[in-house]
Amino acid sequence: MKKKIVVLSGDGIGPEIMESSIAILKKALAHATIELAFEEYLFGGAGIDATGSPLPETTSAACKQADAILLGAIGGPQWNNVANTPEQGLLKLRKELGLYVNVRPVSVPDALIHLSPVKEEIIKGTDFIVVRELTSGIYFGEPRHLGEEEAFDTNRYNVKEIRRIMCKAFEIAQRRSKRVLSVDKANVLATSKLWRKTAEEVANEFPDCTLEHQYVDSAAMRIVQEPTAFDVIVTENLFGDILSDEASILPGTLGVLSSASHSESGISLYEPIHGSAPDIAGKNSANPVSMILSASLMLRQSFDLNDEADRIEDACHKVMEEGILTKDLGGTTTTTEFTSAILEKLS
Ligand code: NAD
Ligand code: IPM
Ligand code: MN
Repeated sequence: MKKKIVVLSGDGIGPEIMESSIAILKKALAHATIELAFEEYLFGGAGIDATGSPLPETTSAACKQADAILLGAIGGPQWNNVANTPEQGLLKLRKELGLYVNVRPVSVPDALIHLSPVKEEIIKGTDFIVVRELTSGIYFGEPRHLGEEEAFDTNRYNVKEIRRIMCKAFEIAQRRSKRVLSVDKANVLATSKLWRKTAEEVANEFPDCTLEHQYVDSAAMRIVQEPTAFDVIVTENLFGDILSDEASILPGTLGVLSSASHSESGISLYEPIHGSAPDIAGKNSANPVSMILSASLMLRQSFDLNDEADRIEDACHKVMEEGILTKDLGGTTTTTEFTSAILEKLS
């Protein structure tokens, strides 16, 4: 069986980590019943340079026909002042595909514990998931305005949007510790008051699970103070963006955190949580683990290829355990050397 994978390598380190991940996918699936057919499309700054648009029509159409989408990263200083930025292209893609659930797993492999800036006794056993709402909130709310003297954005959520992300969080919790922590700012924001009330209503439909609430400022503190206390965190778009980057302090780098985004239509997109890292682009020094683990999430969640995903994740962890590390983790291994080490483990 052939599956069509739309590949959006994007900008900066995007193409470097994508190349690594595709080589690993090909190796891991050499004998699988499913064959992946990779098709690259222009996206982000690369789309702007070639066509004037960060999300060209052909790319958007291909994504809608794909069995799954792999995205590297987009953006960079050269496109910060264009009319239609790479970031706007990414938001448009998420909206067009209805990718409202963004799942960001955070764990600290044993191989990385000693590399974390947080003490071992605090991070050992860290394993939680940030369920980030991805197609609403302040990222999309209207009206918005940027003037010379004043600017504003609108944070907007309706009950339907809160309900559906909350239901997803509870379904994920049912397969884990059955605990959901909803993070909001209900002491101040109207959107958060509705968020909290709706969370309570949805919790009644999942009597096997518990629901707790925490304000986002306090949650931000507790993520580094007691990360093992968390299991499933559900939160709105902006808070999820910030908390998940903060959580990368636990494994010691943004370069190992993956994500999966799902829609009601069934289309899913897999991407690292980090950006295009313009400061290290083109230097063959990016950590490809975030992209490789995103690809492995695709194998699990889109194609049920759990054995192949296990093999890829084991290989990544073993390579890191052996001290083969990229620069972000204090090592000297290049992206291509790291990839070769994983490919060797998969042989
Ligand atoms: P960033 O995540 O690109 O980089 C932050 C820091 O982490 C940098 O020092 C970078 O070198 C490092 N880093 C990130 N990923 C790494 C990896 N795999 N290996 C080693 N080091 C890594 O964030 P930024 O610098 O604030 O943003 C750069 C651009 O990326 C901006 O245009 C931003 O809008 C965009 N961005 C895109 C996405 C996406 O495509 N989904 C996500 C976040 C930011
Ligand atoms: C992310 C990024 C994006 C976001 C940007 C690039 C629009 O930071 O995927 O986390 O804020 O969602
Ligand atoms: Mn982000």
